[in-house]
Amino acid sequence: MRTLTIQTSPSYNIFIQKGLLSKAGEHIRDITTAKTAVIVTDDAVAPLYAKTVQKSLQNAGFFVETFVFPHGEESKCHKVLIALYDFLLQKGVTRSDLLVALGGGVVGDLTGFAAASYMRGIDFVMIPTTLLSQVDSSVGGKTAVNLQEGKNIVGAFWQPRLVLCDPDTLLSLSEDILKDGVAECVKYGFIRDEKILDLLLDGVMKNIEEIITRCIAIKKQVVERDEHDHGERMILNFGHTLAHAIERYYHYQTYTHGKAVAIGMVYITRAAVKQGATPKETFDKMLAVLAALGLPTSCDAPLEELLPLCARDKKRETSGINIILAKQVGQCEIVKKPLNEFYAFFQ
Ligand code: GLY
Repeated sequence: MRTLTIQTSPSYNIFIQKGLLSKAGEHIRDITTAKTAVIVTDDAVAPLYAKTVQKSLQNAGFFVETFVFPHGEESKCHKVLIALYDFLLQKGVTRSDLLVALGGGVVGDLTGFAAASYMRGIDFVMIPTTLLSQVDSSVGGKTAVNLQEGKNIVGAFWQPRLVLCDPDTLLSLSEDILKDGVAECVKYGFIRDEKILDLLLDGVMKNIEEIITRCIAIKKQVVERDEHDHGERMILNFGHTLAHAIERYYHYQTYTHGKAVAIGMVYITRAAVKQGATPKETFDKMLAVLAALGLPTSCDAPLEELLPLCARDKKRETSGINIILAKQVGQCEIVKKPLNEFYAFFQ
């Protein structure tokens, strides 16, 4: 089993191993004295994995409750959050009990925020079941729900007590959803670790444990140095400013997050090459890697319509936009640009 320890407050372990789901109970028992464990999951994941986790938790001596909500981004909202609070109250869940997020990013974000806020905060464990959530959202303590006005508007930094990554859960993903995570892995390759690109090209599932471990190792380093996202952590947003604009332009229908990130990385890097900020070889490698992995490198949305949407990104500071530029493969830098210079960067 591969283990990484994230030194935040509190610190916690991430275990990565095929078949880990059926051992969830014993690992969770090691980090808590909770009597009740509440599995929070969605109706796509529950039929696949809830029973295995339930049984494992019961075998480890937990009293188990399960809250299931409809899958999809629309569920990451205050209505489902309130329904979860009501469920926890009805079941008599106390501050010394524990939530277990079993699913992808929506499940993790919603459960994490419920854990951060229920009775002023209770422990939670992440069991991410998509590649995207295994390499990104399950690590680092960002939790949130969406409002009508935008994604992740209400949230908190609340670190899990343990993260259990079982790559076997990726076998049930559609190719499309798997690719979402692959795009984030490509991002890690370009910002910090070129070896990840080699492993992806050699075979995603063949090298999956190594890929997940390397991606999380980068996230660990970054989150430990900048837990609350004021500096270095922004490098994790490489390609994301444009990606958010692309997702929004197509009303979150045409491009999944990962595909939008792939296009976003290409657009910012193409502009950076033109401005002399990125070597052309980096851009060429990016196009080649994304194409080989079956990820898109462009979309038909006009850039002049995407850029104003970037300016509405919630991560934008009042004085400008932080853009992340790839340098050599495996290196990047954060550059702060006033809005007018940001637009000019793409001319
Ligand atoms: N997903 C980016 C971060 O956790 O900062």
